[in-house]
Amino acid sequence: MAGTMKIKAFGQFSWFHFFCFIFLFNLFYFQLAGQQNQFDTDLLSPSFHQDRRDTLRKLLPENSCAILLSNPLRNRSNDVDFQYSQDPDFYYLTGLVEPNSLVIIFKSPVDIDGTKTNELIFVQERDPESEKWNGIRLGIPGVKKLGFETVMLNRDFENFSFPRNIDRILVKFPTDIRETGRKPGINWLVSKLKSKIEALEKEAEILPLIKILASLREIKKPEELLLLQKAVDISMEGLKEAIRAIEPGMKEYQAQSIVEFYFQYRGAEYPGYGSIAGSGLNSCILHYTTNRKTLREGDMIVMDMGAEYHGYTADITRSVPVNGKFTAEQKQIYDLVLKAQLDGIQKSRPGNSFYDPHKAAMDIITGGLLELGIIRETSEARRYFNHGTSHYLGLEVHDPGTYGQLKPGMVITVEPGVYIPENSPCDKKWWNIGIRIEDDILITEGEPVVMSGALPKSWQEIEKIMAEKSLFNTIK
Ligand code: GLY
Ligand code: MN
Ligand code: MN
Repeated sequence: MAGTMKIKAFGQFSWFHFFCFIFLFNLFYFQLAGQQNQFDTDLLSPSFHQDRRDTLRKLLPENSCAILLSNPLRNRSNDVDFQYSQDPDFYYLTGLVEPNSLVIIFKSPVDIDGTKTNELIFVQERDPESEKWNGIRLGIPGVKKLGFETVMLNRDFENFSFPRNIDRILVKFPTDIRETGRKPGINWLVSKLKSKIEALEKEAEILPLIKILASLREIKKPEELLLLQKAVDISMEGLKEAIRAIEPGMKEYQAQSIVEFYFQYRGAEYPGYGSIAGSGLNSCILHYTTNRKTLREGDMIVMDMGAEYHGYTADITRSVPVNGKFTAEQKQIYDLVLKAQLDGIQKSRPGNSFYDPHKAAMDIITGGLLELGIIRETSEARRYFNHGTSHYLGLEVHDPGTYGQLKPGMVITVEPGVYIPENSPCDKKWWNIGIRIEDDILITEGEPVVMSGALPKSWQEIEKIMAEKSLFNTIK
C-alpha cells in the first residue's frame, strides 16, 4: 500500500498511524486542560479573592500558614478527561482555574528569596505547544494579575523550605488524585508537600483547614450573592418552561433537556449537580439521575435542577403532575409538603439553629401523615421523609458550613419531601407519589428572602402554567 513503511516493532506503519500517534502523544502529554475564563466581565474580582485571603489570615493562629492545592484533572476514560473543575476552597481564595497549583497563605509576612511576602503561589508554566490544544495558561504574569505578588513555577516547589518560625501548618489535601506520573503534576506537588511536612513534624503541628474555610464560606458576600441569584434566575427560567412543556409521552430526559437548554443559553457553565427528573416510581428515588423513563398519565415528576454560574450553583425542586392536573391524593400530599416548606422557610432566621427549619418541617409532615392515615406512629414518618430539610448553598450544592446558628448572609435550601414507593404499608392509592419542594433562602436581619420565590409553587399556580403551551411542545 502506498505511504506505508515497515518498522519492525510496529508491523505495517502508515502515515495515518503516524498522525494518530502524534495526536495521541499530544493528548497524553499535553492534556492538562483547565482554562481561566478570559471572556466574562462579571467574574469575582481579584480584590474579592484577596479580601478572602486577608480574612482567612486573620483567623489563622500565630506562626502558622494555610496550604491548599488545586483540584486534579479527572480522567473519564482512556485519553479523555472530564471538564476541569477547580477545588471550591482553592477558587474562593485565588480565583485561579488551573490544575497543578499550590498556594501558601502565611499568618505574617515571611522572607522568601529575599522578598517579604505573606502569600505565595506555585503555578504551572506557560507552554505554547500545550496551549494550542488546550487553551491559554496564565503563567506567572497572568497569575500576578489575579492579585498575587509572589508567583513561582510549580517545579520550584522542590526548593521551597518552610520559614523557621512556622510551627503550625493548616492544610487541605486534594482527594481522588489520578496517577499520571507527570512532573510537576499534582501527585508530584502532593508528595513533595508531604515529605516537607514529614521533615517538620517534630517542630510543627499539622492541622486541618476545612473548619476555618467553612466558617468563611458560609457567609456570602454581596459579589457572591449576585452570581448565586443569577444561577437561581437561570434555573427558574428553565424549570418554568419545562413545567409548561411536560405532557404524557415525553421522556424524563426531555424535561431535563429543556431546563439545561436554559442553563447553556443563559451562560451557566454547568449543571451544579446531576439533574434529577424522576417520574412515577422514580419520583420516590431521592437522587435519581438516570432520567430515561417515559412520563405517564397520572404520574408525578420531581424535577430537582440547578445551574452553576461562574462557580455558584442553584438548587431548586418542583414536583408536578405529568398530565397537568393533580389527583385528590397528589394534592393532599402536595399541600402537606408545601405547608412544611413554608413553615421551614419562616424558621430560617438569624439566631435560630440550622436544624430549626428541619424540626418545623418534620413536625408538620408527621402530623399530616398521621391525619391522612398513611402512618399510625410518629416514628414511622422517617419512612416517607427520609432526608434533611436544609443544606448550605454556594460554590457547592452541598456547601460547607458550621451547622450552628443561622446568620445573615447564609444561603440555605429548604426542601422537605414525602415519598411513598410502591408496596409501602399504606393504602395503595398513595403509592408512587413522590413530592419535594425546594427553594433557596437567603438569611437576612429581616424576613427570609426566597431567592427562587418567583417560580410558581402552589398547586393552583402549577396547574395554571401547565395549561399554557410551550415552544418545546412543537418539537416532535
Ligand atoms: N439536589 C440535591 C439536593 O437537593 O440536595
Ligand atoms: Mn438541596
Ligand atoms: Mn435539590
